[in-house]
Amino acid sequence: MDRESGGEECSFFFDVPEAPPDSIFGVTEAFKLDSNPDKVNLGVGAYHNDQGVVPVLNSVRKAEELLLSRETSKAYLKIDGDAEFIHCVRALVFGKDFPCVKEERIATVETVGGTGALRIGADFVKRYFPEAAVWHSAPTWGNHRGVFSTAGFALHEYPYYDPKTHGVDFNGVLSALSSMPKQSVVLLHVCCHNPTGVDFSKPQWDEVIEVLLARELIPFLDFAYQGFADGIEQDAYPVRQLALRGGNFLLASSFSKNASLYRERVGTLSVVCGSAVEAKSVTSQLKDVIRTNYSNPPAHGALTVATILSDDTLRAEWEAEVCEMRERIQWIRENFVKRLQEQEVPFDFNHVLAQRGMFSYSGLSKEHVQKLRSERSVYILDNGRICLAAINRNNLEYVCDAIANVLF
Ligand code: LMR
Repeated sequence: MDRESGGEECSFFFDVPEAPPDSIFGVTEAFKLDSNPDKVNLGVGAYHNDQGVVPVLNSVRKAEELLLSRETSKAYLKIDGDAEFIHCVRALVFGKDFPCVKEERIATVETVGGTGALRIGADFVKRYFPEAAVWHSAPTWGNHRGVFSTAGFALHEYPYYDPKTHGVDFNGVLSALSSMPKQSVVLLHVCCHNPTGVDFSKPQWDEVIEVLLARELIPFLDFAYQGFADGIEQDAYPVRQLALRGGNFLLASSFSKNASLYRERVGTLSVVCGSAVEAKSVTSQLKDVIRTNYSNPPAHGALTVATILSDDTLRAEWEAEVCEMRERIQWIRENFVKRLQEQEVPFDFNHVLAQRGMFSYSGLSKEHVQKLRSERSVYILDNGRICLAAINRNNLEYVCDAIANVLF
């Protein structure tokens, strides 16, 4: 058939195969198609309040009102984003009086969420370390592999989660780090490891940092959950420690979770450099990567965050809201485990109490996951990850009873 007479066989795109659904958002798509009124989506990592809603935080609402009343223009932001936002985020992540902040050694750019930060960082590293491979924990967040392989990197895993102890396989981590080639990129979750919820302790971080530096590896820290483990300041320990020890590294951070700004896509990429001169050059390269991807970032989310962080009252309110989210997830953890124990399930869920952040790496098998979906319309990820932060007083019993049901 020729092009003029039409027909799908002559379309340019005839041979394009359908991609498989995303391992996380694909679960939400399947959930939306389910007509069961009792259905529960514990797939995607999003904090829901006790009413089952992903909330607009009060601090955010107030900042947005202020912003709207003051806004006089919709002109472009700079390629690297809003200067006040960048200034506030650096202080939040690294600390206001931190040496490398004062020495202007950190190149920071605004990004389209934490994922955007990972991708801009990946493209930047690929330019200057084209032969480097990326090492990620086993397991890791579903999209890490996609982001770094799309940027052209070879990927390898280092051991991380030990299913026997439900903790970190720390010897495995150290021995893998010790045998990686120099200038390998090592992807590390700063806190609330996704999907396991199992983090390094402070002394373990100190050892990891020691090896990263000694082996001349390139750390790429993913900091998507600041405030969800122990607190906003406490959670930054590994970042600050690595910087204090003289590390040069990349850091992706995000306000999706801790400001509940998921759809606004607010993040930053920071590259900790050796000097202010170096940071200036790195910033110029990051701007070049951004310009050729999406030109410059959106304004609303970043300006909202800058408004909160630069106003003492709004900031105090935001910090209290982060604390409330963290503590409510802890309440869910405890009640989730309690309810399952009351059901006398043939499965030990105590490890869930020690995990941190939004997730429980439950240990449920793929078969359990399928049954939960088909028999009870409870949606979790294929790897057994449950977003506990989407459980509330109304669905807790339903979820636990559904899990008990597939375990007997
Ligand atoms: C998740 O892990 O579910 C979240 O971080 C959402 C996402 O982008 O995958």
